Order: sequence, then structure tokens, then C-alpha cells
Amino acid sequence: MSIGSEAPIDVMVAEKMAIEILSPREQVKLRRAARCAALTLAHVKSKLSAGVTTAEIDRWAREHTKSSGARPSQLGYKGFPAAVCTSRNAVVCHGIPRDDEVLGRGDIVNVDVTSELDGFHGDLSETIAIGALSREAAHGTDVSRRCLDAAILVVRDGARLGDIGAAIEALASREGCSVVTDFDGHGIGRRMHMDPHVSHAGFAGTGARLRAGMAFTIEPLINLGSPAVRVLEDQWTVVTEDGSLSAQFEHTVLVTREGCEVLTRLP
Ligand code: MF3
Ligand code: CO
Ligand code: CO
Repeated sequence: MSIGSEAPIDVMVAEKMAIEILSPREQVKLRRAARCAALTLAHVKSKLSAGVTTAEIDRWAREHTKSSGARPSQLGYKGFPAAVCTSRNAVVCHGIPRDDEVLGRGDIVNVDVTSELDGFHGDLSETIAIGALSREAAHGTDVSRRCLDAAILVVRDGARLGDIGAAIEALASREGCSVVTDFDGHGIGRRMHMDPHVSHAGFAGTGARLRAGMAFTIEPLINLGSPAVRVLEDQWTVVTEDGSLSAQFEHTVLVTREGCEVLTRLP
């Protein structure tokens, strides 16, 4: 996800005017990149079990991405040292895979895969359960998935960006969870992070109008406790301030006349 306050306000406002509309040819390329990332995540997911290290996840993702003819977009991005982000339990996002981080029964781990294929990027993530979950962990994961689904349902030509955040916030609060507002979804295409910022909280009927051919990610970060987060000394790992669990799901979507195509969803 992109950091909400990356650009100075005036630049952000100026850029908001110009959310790219992809041509049919560009849409084909984006579709391929998104599918490629989704296949890599599915591959990695099929190998997860208790005892696996997050460094192994990274290795499997690298190998699979390479064998697909793609490149891991995250590797080296602003100095990020791995191909995927692996964010376990109270890690909100941007967890760095490690040799000494072993997945245990009852853990939840978000694996975030972003792949560049033929000049376009596809980005998705999923929170995966390792063995049976506590009722709490199951709830957070379930709410997080449903928040993404609810957001996807409001996307269509003519809807507004604020509709997305409003749908997420309403569901999360109804379920007793909180929405992290330090990180946003983002436009995606020839770059991994583009305009617009897609806020996961906000007001329906506000913000830029969505048009068919726009592509962006939706990736709500849902905490069981407070929405406050902090960054560890490694300058990447984001954790919940209160130590509560956090879960996230992400898809890359393409706006259409009637709704949207979820480009990172495998049939
Ligand atoms: N894939 C992440 C996202 O959803 C990007 C994380 S940036 C990284 O936007 F550098 F941490 F990889
Ligand atoms: Co993203
Ligand atoms: Co991502």
C-alpha cells in the first residue's frame, strides 16, 4: 500500500485530477500481470503449513515469479529487501521475511505479492491461517476479507472513491474492528504505486469519480484493537501499537461500466 501522506498536498490535489484510464491494450497487459501475481500467491499458499519460515515464502515467491517470466516489483522498492511482504499476527504490513520467523499453528500471516510482467504490475495479498485459529483471529481474518468484498461491490463507473472507504468502515465498525488509516490502496499499472490514493475510510458520495478503465488496489488493514500503528527499527515492519492482531486482503481491480473486474481473483 502507499503511505497516505507521500506527496505534498498541492501535488496530490493536482494528480487527483488525472487518474489514468487504461486503453484496451493496456488492460490486457494489466490483466496478465495481475493473474501472474495471483498464481504466485496461490503457489505459495499451497505450500504453507506450521514449521515454514517466512524466508521460505520469499524464496518460493521469487522462484515462481521468475519461472513466470515476471519480476517481483517489491524487491528493491525504496530499498525493500525481499520479494514479498510477510506480515504475521500483530504485524500490520510490510513485514520482512526472515529465516528465524517460523509459522506456528494458530498464526495468521499475510503474504503480499506484487509482480511486474511486460511493463505492468499486479498486486494482491491474502491473510492465511496456519492450522486452526482462535475465535479472535478467525474473526479478524473474516472481517478483513468481507471488508474487501464489500468495497469491491461498490466499485463501478460513476461511483466515487469515498464510497469505498465508507463501505469498509461501516462493516469493520459493525463487527467491532478498526480500520488503519496510515496506508491506502493505490492506482496501479505501469507503476506499482500510482494515483489515486484509495482510502479505506471516508464518506460515501465524496472524492474523485470512478471511470471505466481506471485500475487500483483495495487493501483494507483491519485491526482487532486500536487502529494505531508504529514502525519498527528496521524502518519497514508496521505493527499494531497495542499488540492486537491485524489482517489484510488486497485485490487489483479494473473499473467497468457495470462494476469492476477483480483482476487478481483466479477463476
Ligand atoms: N504490495 C504492497 C502494496 O500493497 C507494497 C509494499 S511496498 C514494499 O502496496 F516495499 F514494502 F514492498
Ligand atoms: Co498494494
Ligand atoms: Co500489495
